[in-house]
Amino acid sequence: MLKLPKARLIGDVAVVRIPAELEEHEKEIGEEILRRNPSIRTVIRTFGAYGQTRTTRTKIIAGEDNTETIYKEHGCIYKLDVATLLFCLGNLYERRRMASIVKAGEVVADMFAGVGQFTIPIAKLASPSVVYAFEINPDAYRYLLENIRLNKLEHVVRAFMDDCRNALKYGMEESADRVIMGYFPGTIRFLPTALRLSRGVGSCIHLHDLARKKTGWAELWESVKNVAEQLGYGVKLIGYREVKSYSPSLAHWALDFRVDCSPQAVRRANAPPR
Ligand SMILES: C[S@@+](CC[C@H](N)C(=O)[O-])C[C@H]1O[C@@H](n2cnc3c(N)ncnc32)[C@H](O)[C@@H]1O
Repeated sequence: MLKLPKARLIGDVAVVRIPAELEEHEKEIGEEILRRNPSIRTVIRTFGAYGQTRTTRTKIIAGEDNTETIYKEHGCIYKLDVATLLFCLGNLYERRRMASIVKAGEVVADMFAGVGQFTIPIAKLASPSVVYAFEINPDAYRYLLENIRLNKLEHVVRAFMDDCRNALKYGMEESADRVIMGYFPGTIRFLPTALRLSRGVGSCIHLHDLARKKTGWAELWESVKNVAEQLGYGVKLIGYREVKSYSPSLAHWALDFRVDCSPQAVRRANAPPR
């Protein structure tokens, strides 16, 4: 009897990773997933996410030729095309956690918005004054705009189809109480922008990246501290969590840290009285 690989159900689309040894059973696996899940109308096989935009390579293996779906979670609605865009069910708790720690009136910058995985729950479930959402992939950006509309959040989200490293050009320097860096791998290269976006002393940054299981958070934190200190910032670790397993040796980590000192604050403190 065939052991069915575990499928992730996103709206009415099932996504399955099929190991090489089951290659010849691809069609059978797709049909069986359809049969066992009456709410599913399309089954796609995924080959992983690639490049800067984390675009997924997939193939329809059973059901209808339509991979656009609507997924609901924590009272939020997400529309997306599962054939090309990532939506990690393993980040479910992290999405809820982010929405629960944002305080009323905060300015939030979501540097890697995707289809709104953090922007939407924060804007809908917390009461920020504004969420700035940056997304570089036009397909993801189109769904981000649609999800802002579907969730009726036009009054609180400002979306930009641009590289988040350009955020400072929009006059956002020192504006964010909270910066979310929901991207990997190599997230550290975006840290200088996150620090400059942050309001400075007291603001929080949430950095996601891949690192070794169990102890990898400590190596990530060393790199964060080094980059911050080189730029004249002081940072304090508030917490870290293993969001999910990524491979036999790597985990997806989230580090939460606070800015305790900024070069701007030091300059202001040292400025001669007027
Ligand atoms: C994997 S998705 C993650 C979405 C969401 N933050 C989450 O954690 O679930 C990462 C997104 O960041 C976008 N991205 C990558 N580099 C970017 C950049 N420099 N500026 C803005 N968006 C970027 C990608 O296109 C992709 O949609």
